[in-house]
Amino acid sequence: MTEQFTFKLLATDGKARRGEISMPRGTIRTPAFMPVGTGGTVKAMYMDQVRDLGADVILGNTYHLMLRPGAERVARLGGLHEFAKWPYPILTDSGGFQVMSLAQLRKLNEQGVTFQSHIDGRKFEMSPERSIEIQGLLDSDIQMQLDECVALPTDAKNIERAMELSLRWAERCKAAFGNQPGKAMFGIVQGGDIPALRERSAEALKAMDLKGYAVGGLAVGEPQKVMLDMLDVTCPIMPADKPRYLMGVGTPDDMLKSVARGIDMFDCVMPTRAGRHGLAFTRRGKVNLRNARHADDPRPLDEESPCPAARDYSRAYLHHLVKSGEALGGMLLTWNNLAYYQQLMADIRSAIEAGRFSDRAAEISAAWAAGDI
Ligand code: GUN
Repeated sequence: MTEQFTFKLLATDGKARRGEISMPRGTIRTPAFMPVGTGGTVKAMYMDQVRDLGADVILGNTYHLMLRPGAERVARLGGLHEFAKWPYPILTDSGGFQVMSLAQLRKLNEQGVTFQSHIDGRKFEMSPERSIEIQGLLDSDIQMQLDECVALPTDAKNIERAMELSLRWAERCKAAFGNQPGKAMFGIVQGGDIPALRERSAEALKAMDLKGYAVGGLAVGEPQKVMLDMLDVTCPIMPADKPRYLMGVGTPDDMLKSVARGIDMFDCVMPTRAGRHGLAFTRRGKVNLRNARHADDPRPLDEESPCPAARDYSRAYLHHLVKSGEALGGMLLTWNNLAYYQQLMADIRSAIEAGRFSDRAAEISAAWAAGDI
């Protein structure tokens, strides 16, 4: 832990990086997976469990928390860490992405975006300054710039317009954030699937000398190859001495391939949402517990896992819970999935330290492909 927000590269292996982000509330070991805690809860998990699995940081959402329970209320109650009982680092997304995917009657202009809540139709305004203000009220440690993320496919003009707007909003967020030594504000590279626009966005953000850089606007409907091609263009431009965060990604395979290109941080609803829908991630691949073939299967998901959810419950029982709509089904599978995601990141980190990341990545993929579940 440090008083200042710092990033240290501990080892590299090819383009893969092993690092450490430090700040007053703790240290994030990278490559890191951040469990998604949208509304102040990592759904179906106790915070103690999330911590025990090895999470150094969780993600919160400006959009959801401003609507309910309200940022000013969270601030009066001592901030998000105290409110949710997670005293460690929190990264908050700025709201731009969620407004675009969830809110109704959106109107976007240079100033910001106005929208109606998807919960009760109330009207809200969000500018770059208000997004940073809200993230400050939540007392977030790593705050994201307000950006506009367009869904792909869309035309080049629209991608360019949104990317340029996001750059102007990055400048305004930087000014609004000011100088907060123990915290950071990250910029977000946009530019869709157009390499030249990605380059322009990354170069302009780099010139702003921010404390970290995210890649946004990916995993929004494009094939994996397009996402990886955009990382190949973007990562070399992002400063080597700052953390790099790929937003909203992804599957275990996406993460292996992105680490290989120099990404340090990830977040995704995949392990938590899939868990609540009956899907388990394991080192031998994915298991759909809704499938009737599990009804009589006494084997656990993974007899060697340190996670009780993976090791101590039969697939037959998990199948029964999921089929019956029992809350415990979602709880156990979320626990299993987050355990797997954190084990995968720990595995990746030690492989980079040992200088055998690409061999280890190949072994991990081969075990998924064997389908030996
Ligand atoms: N989450 C996933 N993708 C994005 C993005 O492009 N922008 C923001 N703000 N959040 C995201």
